[in-house]
Amino acid sequence: MKHVALKTLLLLPLGWMMLTAPGLAEEKPVVAPPELDPVSGMKMAENWELVRIHCTVCHSPQQYLRQKGNASTWTETIRWMQKSGGLWPLTQETETKIVTYLAQNYGPDEAFRRAPLSGYLMPVNPYGSEAKREFEDKKKSGALPPTPPPQ
Ligand code: HEC
Repeated sequence: MKHVALKTLLLLPLGWMMLTAPGLAEEKPVVAPPELDPVSGMKMAENWELVRIHCTVCHSPQQYLRQKGNASTWTETIRWMQKSGGLWPLTQETETKIVTYLAQNYGPDEAFRRAPLSGYLMPVNPYGSEAKREFEDKKKSGALPPTPPPQ
């Protein structure tokens, strides 16, 4: 009995140290990136085969693997595909799965295009002033041929 108690006493501080060791509690679990399918180059994450079935009939997967977008961008892409690319109607469930796969695996990241600059951050456009004035002057003086009528 005495022996067990002594052991517990010795182990207690050790357990306490392990629980409170700095960094241990905050450590995030390391998630391995999904493997790539050697044929299509697609990330083999959940529902990747569903996306491959629907999206590689008409073109290479590179058409969408090189794009990045959030769920709304990908939904727009699918609508555009349906309107002008000939993509068939999808059930809501299938569309959600495709959009979720694309947004999670090909979503915006650091390499995503930046948003356009606001107008007040843009430099003065020289073509809007001097060159335009010169063009208008030449036009007025008859130095330029008249604009052809619309066909
Ligand atoms: C029935 C044929 C068809 C299917 C199926 C199809 N696409 Fe397309 N896709 C096209 C065509 C045609 C174009 C070229 C359209 C253009 O450039 O005007 C295109 C172009 C694209 C582009 C543009 C690439 C670029 O250079 O900007 C993306 C992105 C895209 N498809 C994604 C998808 C996704 C995601 C799916 C699956 C949900 C899909 N496509 C399924 C026919 C299809």
